[in-house]
Amino acid sequence: TGPCDIYASGGTPCVAAHSTTRALYSSYGGALYQVTRGSDGAKTDIKPLSAGGVANAAAQDSFCSSTTCVISIIYDQSGQGNHLTQAPPGGAASGPEANGYDYLASAIGAPVTLNSQKAYGVFIPPKTGYRNNSPRGNGYWRCARGLDVTNYNDGCCFDYGNAEPSNLDTGNGHMEAIFFGDRTAHGYGAGSGPWILADLENGLYTSGGDDGYGRNPNNPSINYRFVTAVLKGNSGNQWTIRGGNSVSGTLSTYYSGVRPTPNYNPMSKEGAIVLGIGGDNSNAGRGTFYEGVMTTGYPSDTTENAVQANIVAAKYAPSALQSGPEITVGSTVSFRATTLPCCTTKYITHVGANVQLQVASSSSTVSLRRSASWIVHVGLGNSGCLSFESVDSPGSFIRHSSNKLLVNVNDGSKLFAQEATFCSHEALSSAGTNTLRSWSFPARYWRHYRGTLYVASNGGPNAFDTKMTFNDDVSFVVASGFQ
Ligand code: AHR
Repeated sequence: TGPCDIYASGGTPCVAAHSTTRALYSSYGGALYQVTRGSDGAKTDIKPLSAGGVANAAAQDSFCSSTTCVISIIYDQSGQGNHLTQAPPGGAASGPEANGYDYLASAIGAPVTLNSQKAYGVFIPPKTGYRNNSPRGNGYWRCARGLDVTNYNDGCCFDYGNAEPSNLDTGNGHMEAIFFGDRTAHGYGAGSGPWILADLENGLYTSGGDDGYGRNPNNPSINYRFVTAVLKGNSGNQWTIRGGNSVSGTLSTYYSGVRPTPNYNPMSKEGAIVLGIGGDNSNAGRGTFYEGVMTTGYPSDTTENAVQANIVAAKYAPSALQSGPEITVGSTVSFRATTLPCCTTKYITHVGANVQLQVASSSSTVSLRRSASWIVHVGLGNSGCLSFESVDSPGSFIRHSSNKLLVNVNDGSKLFAQEATFCSHEALSSAGTNTLRSWSFPARYWRHYRGTLYVASNGGPNAFDTKMTFNDDVSFVVASGFQ
């Protein structure tokens, strides 16, 4: 049985069912998502291993081998055709891609296992989002989803749910989407977050009436690795937030009552679907999505409790973020470039805060050799990846900022930790050993371009994202440091 079979038997069938990890109906064997690869722009659909089963991650790995891949479509399994595709520009923000579209998510940013079978979620950094502005299947939609609490922020707005087909903020009550993060601009919960909140447009809420912008002490900070979040609103003045641990236990109700004032009742949902962005394409949020649905009607708590049991039985677990040759924590390493003919004697070094290639060897000056040597640490932002401290500047690490690699003092902030964490994979070119990607922007890889190091995407909007020599420029030979 899948979650949408349970909703159907509860009389509130799914009208949108999105997941890159598994089929949400026991009979569903069709496409879950589409990936597009960087090398040649080819696309392929990833299906479950069998009807009702877990996604065929091996098919993705083989299609994307020696190149990069992004998730270009998240298909609707409900039969309504409510697929999610690259989000267009909106009233609040344009994205960085052509015609103001947002980025698409990397296909490898959120590896997990379900009952020990590998699958990939959708790791969504800022400026990344999906949308459907031609919704089919009416209803008072409600949504549930799996979340990854290692990836969140206080930006607006990592949402999944109901929004405006115009990409514009059309006023209070014109959205009903789950938000996840630690934003405190509007209503918020107990502790320091992150929280499951409701984006009802022009505000994130966790209570109603005149108190909508207040703190709701019954809405807890969430520290589960995988989270089930439920938001439902009826045709009257009633809405509910529920949440729980996707790996064990049951759902709790964090709010159930009237809508906020003013003008949230009657609600005016318009039916578009957003993922990773706000209703007006506010695209500063970050989060991870595994599965989510919207249903007709107002599902009963009993139905939702059965769905939660189904999610628990799916046994979500984290999976290795890295692959290929290991870069050992505690060792001191160097990174030699491999691009011909320019760069095969050049190493990643820093000159002040700037990270750039310089020719180096064992006979270089001591200061150059130290500048080209890096101490490997457990990732500051995620222990499944790595951080690199400069040998000649203790306490300073390689981090990305505005897509450039810099060597900066670790200021202890969450943002620095995220920006200083990189995951290693087998090199995309056989001339190298390793390729490193940003943990916090998984579609971006360490890449030298005209001698300067960037986090670059394969064919993105910046000059340093060019596809030309991408595989060579992101492939390094990792060896012992020069010390
Ligand atoms: O409600 C919060 C945000 O406000 C919405 O997502 C967006 O449309 C508006 O800017």
